[in-house]
Amino acid sequence: MKIDIAVLPGDGIGAEVVAAAMAVLEKVASMSGHQLNPVYADVGWAAIDKHGTALPEATREICRKSRAILFGAVGLPDRDKTLPQAQRPERVALLELRKGLFANLRHVVLPPGLANRCPLKTELISAGIDIMIIRELTGGLYYGKPQGISGPPGTRVAVDTMAYSEAEIERILKIGFETALKRRRRLTSVDKANILATSQLWRETAIRMAKDYPDVTVEHMYVDNASMQLLRRPTEFDVIVTENTFGDILSDEASMLCGSIGLVPSACLGIPGGAVPFYEPIHGSAPDIAGQNKANPIGTILTVAMMLRYTFGLEPDAKMIEKAAFEVLNGGKTLTGDLGGTAGCTQVADAVMAAL
Ligand code: IPM
Ligand code: MG
Repeated sequence: MKIDIAVLPGDGIGAEVVAAAMAVLEKVASMSGHQLNPVYADVGWAAIDKHGTALPEATREICRKSRAILFGAVGLPDRDKTLPQAQRPERVALLELRKGLFANLRHVVLPPGLANRCPLKTELISAGIDIMIIRELTGGLYYGKPQGISGPPGTRVAVDTMAYSEAEIERILKIGFETALKRRRRLTSVDKANILATSQLWRETAIRMAKDYPDVTVEHMYVDNASMQLLRRPTEFDVIVTENTFGDILSDEASMLCGSIGLVPSACLGIPGGAVPFYEPIHGSAPDIAGQNKANPIGTILTVAMMLRYTFGLEPDAKMIEKAAFEVLNGGKTLTGDLGGTAGCTQVADAVMAAL
């Protein structure tokens, strides 16, 4: 199979983790006889410095011609501060490339060998943690209009708008139900229906759709309660589906259940033939450890596995990568600093390649 992808390493540790994941992908492609055609492009500060914008037209064009985008991270807080918000890399590049990709799948798995890295007590996690968080990604507060700050200093007013149409809610819930069917058949729909109108529509829609999925056990949970239950009974969650901002927050919280945000991969998906699917680890650019071979590449390596699964339909190759990555994690010998180890990013990638 031809694997035509755009590769956008970006800022901070983006370059290192993407290089590590690409090395793994190259090996898998050659083992399975796939033709890998990566086209590298600038994004974030790397692009601002060369082309004056975080998302140059040349990069967009490369993305448009690809079947998937592999993305590292963008943003450097010290430099971001020098730009108005509307020109910062997160907005110009990240939110732009995610447009049209309404389903953000973030997979949180605690490798059994790393149970000691989970901040929760052993008895709370002995049944294992494997949660698929499905975050709505193109609606809600991030894109709702009106948005902005207006008025004279001292009496300024800021507005963000949370809006969801029934169609937007339905399409993300559908992904939730269908994902649950392929997993342990439990779906937790998270909202704030006791207060928010968007959540009332969300819950009504979820209750109606649940009738079409009699094999899925559905639980409706307020977001504040969900943030507590994730710590109280994390092993009972299978698939969580929720709106944009709630999903952003809950996925960071959940990532700590597996010991490090550096382990969590993600996929941003839309409709077939629509916006180009976008794959990124959920961690950011971590400038404090950038360029020191300290970053954990596992999140990006697992992101490549998601890309092979969801865009290229290469389930066996995806599984092969996941198996190798978890073997390294469970082995406990080659771990980066975030997991209490001393290995470098390149060593972890080498260990994963050796385990393939
Ligand atoms: C994430 C990040 C982004 C988001 C920011 C950087 C815009 O927090 O990917 O979770 O909120 O989506
Ligand atoms: Mg986030």
